[in-house]
Amino acid sequence: MPLQSNAEIRPATGKLGVLLPGMGAVGSTFVAGCLAIRKGLAQPIGSLTQMGTIRIGPRSDDNVPLIRDYVPLADLDDLVFGGWDVFPDDAYVAAQRAGVLDGHLLEQLGEELRAIRPMPAVFEQAYVRNLHGDHVKDLASKWEQAEALTDDIRRFSEENGCDRLVAVWCGSTEVYKEPGDVHASLEAFEQGLRDSHPDIAPSQIYAYALLKQGIPVANGAPNLNLDTPALLELARANRVPVTGKDFKTGQTLMKTILAPGLKARLLGVDGWYSTNILGNRDGEILDDPDSFKAKEVSKLGVLDTIFEPERNPELYGDIHHVVRINYYPPRGDNKEGWDNIDIFGWLGYKMQIKVDFLCRDSILAAPLVLDLALFLDLAQRAGLAGVQEWLSFYWKSPQPAQPGLYPEHDIFIQLKKLKNTLRHLRGDDPITHVGAEYYD
Ligand SMILES: NC(=O)c1ccc[n+]([C@@H]2O[C@H](COP(=O)([O-])OP(=O)(O)OC[C@H]3O[C@@H](n4cnc5c(N)ncnc54)[C@H](O)[C@@H]3O)[C@@H](O)[C@H]2O)c1
Repeated sequence: MPLQSNAEIRPATGKLGVLLPGMGAVGSTFVAGCLAIRKGLAQPIGSLTQMGTIRIGPRSDDNVPLIRDYVPLADLDDLVFGGWDVFPDDAYVAAQRAGVLDGHLLEQLGEELRAIRPMPAVFEQAYVRNLHGDHVKDLASKWEQAEALTDDIRRFSEENGCDRLVAVWCGSTEVYKEPGDVHASLEAFEQGLRDSHPDIAPSQIYAYALLKQGIPVANGAPNLNLDTPALLELARANRVPVTGKDFKTGQTLMKTILAPGLKARLLGVDGWYSTNILGNRDGEILDDPDSFKAKEVSKLGVLDTIFEPERNPELYGDIHHVVRINYYPPRGDNKEGWDNIDIFGWLGYKMQIKVDFLCRDSILAAPLVLDLALFLDLAQRAGLAGVQEWLSFYWKSPQPAQPGLYPEHDIFIQLKKLKNTLRHLRGDDPITHVGAEYYD
């Protein structure tokens, strides 16, 4: 369905419940961050919905409002947080364990964080082998698990007086799997739930329960989820917006900033070697080769679509792209990502670029969770449904709206698409950067 211009956007009144399946490092950093910002203790740095601006009309108009003043987004004060985890730790303990935010800040948020306790998880060991928690629903069938999640969601919504809900998967990366017959249609999936089909992953059961109730979902991890025909069918049937997958932070963020620049200058690339050390629980989980495989596939896809080797084979036809992640506990959440890029220029002369990014994974991911929650809620109030390609900006593996379309990885094109979609929703002209001034 074409995007409706100047659509009627329902106002963002009342409480917005933000549900997080998975309340570990990213989840707790996001929640604590929102509470700290609400109290005026910190700034929402890295969040487009909070700090980003958007130009409307020609430059001469000098009309550049904040995005949050331009489209009706839920206010931070109206967010309530909940979720599930395989550990019973409340958000304060989870944040302390994650070791991302300093103790002094957490102390000031203690009471509110302690009140946010995860609900028991739907979990299956085979999907996350290096994770051992017992705060798990003890239910035999996957169908019953979906029903229990539905009850959780209803209860959470009632108890917190929510007007609307959105969900962002911040759970661990599940093992790599290709879609199977059970994912081919909603009917097959529902039968699969009744049969407790082994190919239905816990993350898919959450997505099913959420979409069934008309709740928008984002998938922050690289595993198979909203990119299955069954769950997409459900999203479209229930008119729910969805988006995924795998938060674009750290090394891939750098890649999608640098690669478009090299391509713009038509500099050739022989190889791109990327390696990371990471010591948090996510790193431990990615130590399992099958979970790493899901991450590797997600990370490797990026360069191909930016460089389009088929259009310039002499520049990008033979790139050796390697991605490694090593679990290295001393670093905790403070990941170090090295890139060695072998490039060549005029007449084929070779050069090298080295990047050493000492980043903080969850600090980069938390603002994305906030933006995704607020933009998905906006999308729903604007009547948008299915895959929200304009949110590709946030993903390592953006999901194309139609099967067969290639995803857009270039962060600058992604941002342009996001802002032009907002302009379109408000009935303003897209900014094309084509100037009439040359024809005077
Ligand atoms: N931090 C980043 O920059 C970044 C970037 C891209 C993707 N991701 C992905 O985001 C996810 C979260 O990352 P993190 O650093 O917070 O990891 P984490 O290990 O600290 O947190 C994940 C949490 O999910 C919980 N969990 C696992 N399976 C669950 C289930 N079935 N139901 C409920 N809870 C479940 C775990 O117990 C854990 O507390 C991971 O999949 C990671 O790969 C993170």
